[in-house]
Amino acid sequence: MVASSARQNKNENETGPHMDRISIVGGRRLRGTIPISGAKNATLPLMIASLLTADRLTLKNVPNLADVNMLARILRNHGVDLTIDGKRADPSPHLGETFHLSARDIVDTAAPYELVSRMRASFWVLGPLVARCGVARVSMPGGCAIGTRPVDLHLMGLKALGAEIDIDGGYVVAKAPKGLKGTRVVFPKVSVGATHAILMASTLAKGETVIENAAREPEIGDVAECLIKMGAKIEGVGTSTLRIAGTGRLEGAVHTVLPDRIETGTYAFAVAAAGGDVELKGARRALLETAFDALERTGVGIADTPAGVRVTRNGGPLEPITIETQPYPGFPTDLQAQLMALMTKAKGTSVIRETIFENRFMHVQELARLGADIQLQGDTATVKGVKTLRGAQVMATDLRASVSLVIAGLMAEGQTTINRVYHLDRGFERLEQKLSRCGAEIERLVSG
Ligand code: EPZ
Repeated sequence: MVASSARQNKNENETGPHMDRISIVGGRRLRGTIPISGAKNATLPLMIASLLTADRLTLKNVPNLADVNMLARILRNHGVDLTIDGKRADPSPHLGETFHLSARDIVDTAAPYELVSRMRASFWVLGPLVARCGVARVSMPGGCAIGTRPVDLHLMGLKALGAEIDIDGGYVVAKAPKGLKGTRVVFPKVSVGATHAILMASTLAKGETVIENAAREPEIGDVAECLIKMGAKIEGVGTSTLRIAGTGRLEGAVHTVLPDRIETGTYAFAVAAAGGDVELKGARRALLETAFDALERTGVGIADTPAGVRVTRNGGPLEPITIETQPYPGFPTDLQAQLMALMTKAKGTSVIRETIFENRFMHVQELARLGADIQLQGDTATVKGVKTLRGAQVMATDLRASVSLVIAGLMAEGQTTINRVYHLDRGFERLEQKLSRCGAEIERLVSG
């Protein structure tokens, strides 16, 4: 086992707003294998689940991402002891690192603005901290600028569990000195984060909690499976009604993070865009049926293989598509920008409606720089396929928008340079290597 200080220092630099760029020369077909990493959006809540127990939680297949490292800093601040082993070796690049998290002594129940404002998911520590310690003080969150993104559902759920909630100087202060009490929580809207938070908190509450209209994203199922290994009693995993019988105490466990379905979908769209034949190793088709179905409708080949999923497109035209984003199992909002990039060169007009976040169209003006023809009206983008995209300078604005520019760059003639790629580093591990090993002409231009 190795102490993580070197990695931590490196990544502290990586999480700063440095100005690396990515350069892509379009027109190369992709051939080969792309290993799929562990899911960022499961890793983050799984790491937070370590706050629920004094014992050691071991997470395997953890991706090396800026968001993961930022959360590690936040958890260390609470007193979580984190060590890392299983350094990724080249022969098995699809296997992530192993984190050992031990929250034996929580030394600080406050999560400060400087840390939480940089990543929204870090707000999710509120529930587990108040459940375990009876008090928590957590800054209101930040994160990708894709909408107003309130936290009312988180607070509603915690209040229902008996926590007293105050807002003080930009901080949420939650108190439950006698512990949380099981109850029925009916979410008026599906929220991934609020489901994670209330699920985790209720495992330590007294009595039974029923969460209705729970989000069904596979990452919630992954966290529930881990909590069950830790001794939680949860029924209804994978459905919109979760029943949790509170236990006073959880134990340690060993859990392997499930593969990243958004990374999987992103590379599938990239292969569709560039053309070629690529196996996404470790991918699970069942985690994103809707997105694969959409790709098949556009004329892209998708096939299961023993090791993952194979994506092929051999020169045929791309059919346009009409789609709207929906909570799981619908088409994911986290793949909307990537789909839009692909459809900029379809043989006709596509209509893409974003129903989850009201401001998740920042890629539109950047795609237009490459020659895309997209009209925005309210929550709907109308994308008229063009014959040719031409490389240009573009700006990454949020995580998924950034990667849509990579996809567009793979299809464009000439060179595309993407500025501010630190957004990409939040959620895509070794993106340039994964694509260049399959024949893409892509490189990182390191600043300074
Ligand atoms: C999670 O964000 C993901 N983040 C997001 O991925 C993803 O886009 C989103 O779920 C939807 O699938 C992580 O898992 C770390 P929500 P979350 O609560 O939990 C509204 C990425 O690129 N809402 O399901 O923050 C909210 O404004 C990221 O990896 C309230 O109104 O999303 C939105 O309109 C970006 N009140 C809708 O619900 C609340 O209290 C869904 O948000 C909470 C949410």
